[in-house]
This record gives sequence, structure tokens and C-alpha cells, in this order.
Amino acid sequence: MGPGARWLDELEERARDVLPAPVFEYVVQGARDGVTAAEATAAWRSVRLRPRVLHDVTHVDTSVELLGRTYRVPWGVAPSTLQRAIHPDGELAMARACADAGSLMVVSSNAGTSFAEIGATGVEWWLQAYLPADRTLAEPMLERAVAAGAGAVVLTVDTPVVGTKYATPGTAAVWESVDPSILRVNFDAGYDEMPGAEKALDLGPHDIGWVAAHTGLPVVVKGVLRAEDAVRCVQAGAGGVWVSNHGGRQLDRTAQTAGCLGDVVAAVGEQAEVYVDGGIRNGLDVLTALALGAHAAFLGRSPLFALLEGSRGVAQLHAELGDQVVEALRLAGARTVAEARGLAGTTRATPL
Ligand SMILES: Cc1cc2nc3c(=O)[nH]c(=O)nc-3n(C[C@H](O)[C@H](O)[C@H](O)COP(=O)(O)O)c2cc1C
Repeated sequence: MGPGARWLDELEERARDVLPAPVFEYVVQGARDGVTAAEATAAWRSVRLRPRVLHDVTHVDTSVELLGRTYRVPWGVAPSTLQRAIHPDGELAMARACADAGSLMVVSSNAGTSFAEIGATGVEWWLQAYLPADRTLAEPMLERAVAAGAGAVVLTVDTPVVGTKYATPGTAAVWESVDPSILRVNFDAGYDEMPGAEKALDLGPHDIGWVAAHTGLPVVVKGVLRAEDAVRCVQAGAGGVWVSNHGGRQLDRTAQTAGCLGDVVAAVGEQAEVYVDGGIRNGLDVLTALALGAHAAFLGRSPLFALLEGSRGVAQLHAELGDQVVEALRLAGARTVAEARGLAGTTRATPL
């Protein structure tokens, strides 16, 4: 029997039943009061679309070109730590399913699987990196990613410090409950104890050029919510800007990405690619992101919950999203991702 019609919507509840409590909590939690994390999915639902009619939608093409490479689908997997705490095959299972679906995988620099093994699956992948106070300490990790075939570096800039999260009383902190050997395997031994290994508090636009020069790869800046910051990123050479509030895990009360996306697209969408994440759970959310001008949408928590069933679960996630996106494109009168652009009306059910 196939999965139920609401399989995607039920991922979180199934994970709650099955995952160890500290791991489930680590995935779902937002920073502080969790205001931003809690609002994210509703923000996408509040956008209203104006479909085209009398358009032949017999043939629908979901492919997109991102930084010069073609992907079969306009969504990818956002970077996340601790995939091996969810399933022993962790990043490898995620990578295999993304490769089969023709979807881009962004690999966290905190990954518990070596970049070489991930690259060997044949998946198209980008590295996500934080930069340390002493930039040179990041060089070996960046070199390993380049050697393993990373197609771009996603520089996360919304984390000068890690936002405080509160554990539910009685639930152990995840770091005390997982084996440390499933974390950060792409760094040199003893990295975290080295002076200067703490996250940089002084990141600036020049760091975009630094990463590009050290890797020879396009740089995407993740964690941008303001149009003028997007302009600074592009002026500094970024090939892409990723509108994100880190899934509500950094500054709580941060605005929703669904509401920030349009301004960023208007500011830099002609010069650079714009991606978005945060609260994207189904095909209608993906369509809404495309309609607001995103070149691609990324999912963080949903693929983690799907990973509970290993690569089969992530394959199912891609299949369900595929069916939903094709249906949504047809109903919207769009044959391609490009034709979905601009279909979001100005009318919202509630202000974002
Ligand atoms: C468990 C977990 C771990 C994450 N780890 C990282 C990370 O290592 N680097 C990063 O840039 N973002 C990280 N993120 C943020 C995601 O890349 C993404 O921005 C966010 O999850 C998107 O929101 P969504 O979960 O509502 O889809 C993490 C998110 C989660 C849920």
C-alpha cells in the first residue's frame, strides 16, 4: 500500500513517535521562545496566488539551472547537522536519494560523513560552511570539500553566536546523548580546541571573496533577510543569496522568509540567484516560493524526518514533492519554473 495522501504533513508526528526525545527536540526546536520557528509554515500559507488559465499544461518541466548546473527539481535539501543521529546511514542515505531524484544536497560542514564518501554517491552537492575567527583554520576543511567535488560554498552568515535554545525539562541535551564520532568528521583532529576556531564575530563582505579565492567555487550567502544586505553580498561577488532565518534557530522574532523574499528578489534577482528556506513543507510551499521569485527552495526539517526511513524515506519525500509541484504548476497555468514567477498576488490572508 502506498503512503497516505498527507504523508508529507505527517512526517513530524511520525518522527515524534519514533526518534529519541533529545534528537527529535534538537530537530524541531527554535531559538528562545520559538516564535519564528512556529510561524514559518503559516507564512507560506498566507500568500495568495493568481493562476493563469487557458495555457496548455500538457507538458510540465520542473527542471532548474542553479549556478550553471541543471537539476531535475527546483527544491533541494538544506544543510543540517546530526543526520547520523536520525539514521545510521545519515548523509549517505540523504545523498543517494537526492542523486536519484536529481535534487541538490547542501552538506553541513558539521556532517558526520566524509565529503569524499558523500561525493562518491554521485550526488550534486554544495558545502555549507561557517568561518572561524582565524580564517586559515577553515582551509583544510574547504580543501577537502573541493577535492570531493562540491559545486559551491554556502557561507552561513546568521550565526555569529549560536542562538540559545531551551531544553524541555527532563529531556537530555542532544550533545550528551549522541556519539561525538558522528559529528564534524571533516575537520582536523583537535580543531575545536585550537585558538581561533570559535565562530567569527567579524564576518564582512570581504569574506565572500576570501572563500571564492580559496576554493575557486561560487559562493552563496545563507541567512540574508534584508535587500540592502543582498546587494552587499552580490557586490562582493556572491553568485547566490539564500533568504533564511535558519529555521527560527538563531534570532527569535526574526521576520518570516516568505515575507522577505520578494524584496530580495527585487533587489538582486537579475544579477544573482535567490534561494529560500524556512517552513517549506509541501509542493504548494515550493510553488509559492517560486511564484515569489525564488530560483529554488530548500527544506531543512522535512528531509531529516524523512531520513528516519533511510534513503527510502528521502526518496519518498522527493516523489511526494514532485507529484505536488507538478499538480500545483498545472493548476497555476505554468509549464516551467520560470513561468511560475510572478504568480503570487499582492493579496494575503493575513499580513506577514
Ligand atoms: C537540526 C538542524 C540542523 C541544522 N544545521 C545547520 C547547519 O549546520 N548549518 C546551517 O547553515 N543551517 C543549519 N540548519 C538550518 C537549515 O539549513 C535551514 O536553514 C532550516 O532548517 C530551514 O527551515 P525548515 O527546517 O523549516 O525547513 C539546521 C536546521 C536544523 C533543523
